[in-house]
Amino acid sequence: MTAARILPLADCPGHAATLARWHHEHWGHFYDPADWDLAIATAELRDHATRRGRPTTLVALDGDRLLGSVSLVDEDAPELNDVGDAWLASLYVRPEARGQGLGARLVRECVALAAREGVRRLWLFTPEHASFYAALGWRPAGSATLRGVPVQLMDILPA
Ligand SMILES: CC(C)(COP(=O)(O)OP(=O)(O)OC[C@H]1O[C@@H](n2cnc3c(N)ncnc32)[C@H](O)[C@@H]1OP(=O)(O)O)[C@@H](O)C(=O)NCCC(=O)NCCS
Repeated sequence: MTAARILPLADCPGHAATLARWHHEHWGHFYDPADWDLAIATAELRDHATRRGRPTTLVALDGDRLLGSVSLVDEDAPELNDVGDAWLASLYVRPEARGQGLGARLVRECVALAAREGVRRLWLFTPEHASFYAALGWRPAGSATLRGVPVQLMDILPA
């Protein structure tokens, strides 16, 4: 288990640009560039850094070193807006920090934040990590295809 701290991006807004780059490199292919590109990703995270409630982002830090993040948002993929109105999104741990329990901690902190925010049902979609989320209490809740990629929908009741 890593000794990393998990805190709101609002406490360290200078990390927004780096996070946006990581996120866009990893997930850019899921989105129409007209809907989500690096500039939009950066603007969204700078906006998240202005508040501690949804839509917002939590980050993991070792000292001042950025290790990862997770976001709690109102919408993720526009095609899934009819599915739910509260989403865990953009879970990311930098490669050299993986396998130490940090991803699981970020997910739990995001669910706890959703509970404090009064979210009754929290959603996510994942192309390949359903078993990771299932081990943390998330339930399979259907499937979808985003820009040709099959994804699993999952949900959890935070409160
Ligand atoms: C997915 C990701 C966040 C996991 O982060 P991590 O810090 O390595 O995860 P953890 O160390 O907390 O792993 C927790 C548990 O899940 C397991 N696990 C990790 N990745 C997994 C996967 N892809 N599938 C199944 N189990 C997985 C670990 O073995 C560990 O199990 P254990 O508790 O029995 O030891 C990380 O690999 C990542 O950032 N990937 C790129 C971005 C991404 O795909 N994000 C998810 C989008 S849906």
